[in-house]
Amino acid sequence: MDWGMKNRLSRIIRPDDGRCLMLAVDHGYFLGPTERLEVPRKTIAPLLPYADSLMLTRGVLRTSVPAESHIPIVLRVSGGTSIIGEDLSKETVTTSVEDAIKLNASCLALSIFVGSKYEHQTLANLSKLVDEGEKYGIPVLAVTAVGKEMARDARYLGLSCRIAAELGAHIVKTYYCDNFEEVAEGCPVPLIIAGGKKLPEAEALKLSYDSVHHGAVGVDMGRNIWQSDWPVAMIKAVSAIVHRDVDTKEGYGIFLKEKEKDRSGQKSSQKVVQ
Ligand code: R5P
Repeated sequence: MDWGMKNRLSRIIRPDDGRCLMLAVDHGYFLGPTERLEVPRKTIAPLLPYADSLMLTRGVLRTSVPAESHIPIVLRVSGGTSIIGEDLSKETVTTSVEDAIKLNASCLALSIFVGSKYEHQTLANLSKLVDEGEKYGIPVLAVTAVGKEMARDARYLGLSCRIAAELGAHIVKTYYCDNFEEVAEGCPVPLIIAGGKKLPEAEALKLSYDSVHHGAVGVDMGRNIWQSDWPVAMIKAVSAIVHRDVDTKEGYGIFLKEKEKDRSGQKSSQKVVQ
């Protein structure tokens, strides 16, 4: 592996513990102004200090993240569909590698839809992107997107993850499932777990714990952080689970403690304003 590729990967997966906390804020690329991500700049700013990297599109990067920021960027470069459109799987590559380089991306992210109508197109997209990334030393994160009608089980996710790795993805993002160890065993590159729909905080922390203890190197989490009423407390708790190996109970304790701190901070700033 060349120096640039290694260097960029080390900005995504921390070399000190081999783990990663990626903050996902790319949802608008097909969902539009997602709840609590309506004004991306406001959602992102308080969370930036606690994330290892940020996953987003070039539009949100340019408009909503200060260029002076040191946060490593995982640039989503696939899209071209919408939640109300014909078929979500009909994605294309939406951003050139040249533009990604101008934006100083540390990693490129693209979705594949195994088992969908446009499976071939999305797998071909991935292969071409890996070729481009290899030319410039930029790793590719394959996102194993799951259609509504597809089961999120170890067999299906294992198939999708393995295909992504075989086509050259450097990191694969998938979902947690029963028997996740089987998915991890069959995937020779690092796996990270998407948070999925908003869960109660304790459940999302358990998901984070289970993921890193059953074969994932970390999480790529969005809604379970910024749709929480206490997003900073939540990201701090997820970080403790991912990087400090605390268990779910201790992680939830951290969440409650940080939530209290935030609540008292909010009350005292309200008093000052009054
Ligand atoms: C889908 O829109 C994106 O790839 C998200 O980055 C991914 O699903 C992770 O976000 P969440 O934790 O909200 O599922």
